[in-house]
Amino acid sequence: MRVVVATGNAGKVREIAEALPGLSWQLEGLGGLPLPEETGTTYEENAALKACAAAMARGLPALADDSGLEVAALGGQPGVYSARFGGRDSDLERNLYLLERLRGAADRRAKFVSVVMLAYPDGHLETYRGEMTGTLLEGPRGENGFGYDPLFVPDGETRTLAEMTVAEKRALSHRGRALTALMEAHRDGPPARDLTPVE
Ligand code: IMP
Repeated sequence: MRVVVATGNAGKVREIAEALPGLSWQLEGLGGLPLPEETGTTYEENAALKACAAAMARGLPALADDSGLEVAALGGQPGVYSARFGGRDSDLERNLYLLERLRGAADRRAKFVSVVMLAYPDGHLETYRGEMTGTLLEGPRGENGFGYDPLFVPDGETRTLAEMTVAEKRALSHRGRALTALMEAHRDGPPARDLTPVE
């Protein structure tokens, strides 16, 4: 089955492609197709916006992920707004802004959430969710990954996500878990569909 990966984030494309080894899907990029603005207030709404737009435009099933970091001491912020946290433009600036907001905070617990959606051109939609809990350091460590990876140490680990290989991160990560659930649902043949109509 040909499947469009509806993301402009190169880090995510790589993680998604490597997370689905059990499926003989032919993953395709967006091919210049613009994605709609992420105007939703939940991960599910934003993932559906992206997946449905790509599925309808390309006439193929399309996969999209929406994700974010929820920080306990900030009441769950930035959450669905993680990519725009503090209006900052780069990963580095957002990490510095997060450290500033957490300065002196004893509670450094946080969790990553990923919602992966597979939309079909006929309007059917499947949803998979994964989470990963951990703590935020007081300074960045590591060069790998993207986003908040250099600040986040998963529970049970001593390294940040940015100090892990892609495979190590995938085995633990919110997105890895959501994609594993998707792979399990599709392993035995044709797509399993939950028949949720698109509004
Ligand atoms: P979106 O899902 O493209 O809206 O963006 C989610 C944002 O959350 C990213 O831009 C990152 O800032 C952050 N994020 C989501 N997943 C990860 C991850 O695996 N590592 C680090 N940051 C992440």
